[in-house]
Amino acid sequence: MSASPALKTSVLSPSAVRVVPTQAALGAEVRCDDVRTLSDAELALVHRAALDHLVILIRGQTLTDPELIDFGRHFGALDLAPYAKTGKEKARKHPEIVIVSNVMEDGQAIGVLRDAEVVWHSDNSYREQPLSFSALYSLEVPPAGGNTGFANMYLALETLPHELRSRIEGRTLKHDMTYNSAGDLREGFKPVSDVRDAPGPHHPIIRTHPDTGYDALYLGRRPNAYIDGLPVDESEALLEALWAHAVRPDFTWHHVWQAGDILMWDNRCVMHHRDPFDAGARRVMHRIQCAGDKPAKSAAGKIGHPRALSAPNS
Ligand SMILES: [Fe+2]
Repeated sequence: MSASPALKTSVLSPSAVRVVPTQAALGAEVRCDDVRTLSDAELALVHRAALDHLVILIRGQTLTDPELIDFGRHFGALDLAPYAKTGKEKARKHPEIVIVSNVMEDGQAIGVLRDAEVVWHSDNSYREQPLSFSALYSLEVPPAGGNTGFANMYLALETLPHELRSRIEGRTLKHDMTYNSAGDLREGFKPVSDVRDAPGPHHPIIRTHPDTGYDALYLGRRPNAYIDGLPVDESEALLEALWAHAVRPDFTWHHVWQAGDILMWDNRCVMHHRDPFDAGARRVMHRIQCAGDKPAKSAAGKIGHPRALSAPNS
C-alpha cells in the first residue's frame, strides 16, 4: 500500500503512529507497534485516522479477547450485538465479541455469517441506534476469497446526480431487520412479502456524521428497503438508481486479509461487503463494535470531506 499524490503519508509524531492512505477512495494503513503498547494520545491519533480515512488497517497484531475489547473501548462504548445468535456462538465468553466464522465444532457453527457472500451493508442499520465503528480482528484467514470491500458514502453523496439528490432530500428510508447480511432469517422474524410491512427503523437517507459534521448517503442494505411514503414501484426504482451509484467500483477499496490484521470502519459513512470463500477453508474473525447515535440530518451538514474530494475519479 502506498500513499496517493493527493494524500501524503502523515507522520503523527512524536508517536510511532504513521498513517498511510490507500490509493483508492477510502482507507489507510496505520503503521504502529503492538497496539497494546500505544498511549492514550497515540490511540487518539488512530481514532482521528479512522474519522479522516473511514477505514483503517493495522497489521501484525496478537491480541487476546480482553485485549481486543480494551483496544475497542478507545473508539467508544462497546455494543453487545443483540442479534448475533447462531449455534455455539451463543456460548461466547465475552458479550462484546462477535465471532464471525464458518468453522464448525461439535456440529455447531462457532460464529456467524458462514462462508457466503455478505451483501453490501452498514452494520446494524436495522436498529434505532446503529453502530458507529466496527472492527474485525483476524485469527485465521482462507488462502483465497473472503476479502472485505468498503464504499465511501461521503463520496457517493457528493457525486450523486442532482436529479437523484433532489428526490431524496428530506426523505427517510425503512431499514429491514428481518434478514442478516448473509441472507439468513433472524431469530424470531418472519419472511417479508411487502416491503411496506417489513419491521425496522426509519432513518434519513442523507445523514450528518456527528463527529465530522459531513453529510453522507445512508442506505443500510438493499433487501426489503423502502423509501417511506412512496409507491412501492417508485421506491424500488429510486433505490436501484441510488445503489447503482453508491457502490461504483471507483468509490471502493477491497482488503485482502492476513492473520493478525485489525480492520476498523466507520458505519456512519461506509458500507462494506464480503466476498464468498471456499467452504472447506477456515476463516475466524473476532469482531467488536461501538454503540452509535440515532442517525440524523443536520441543517449545518457539510459537503467536502477531504477523503471524498481527494478520490481519484471524483
Ligand atoms: Fe457487517
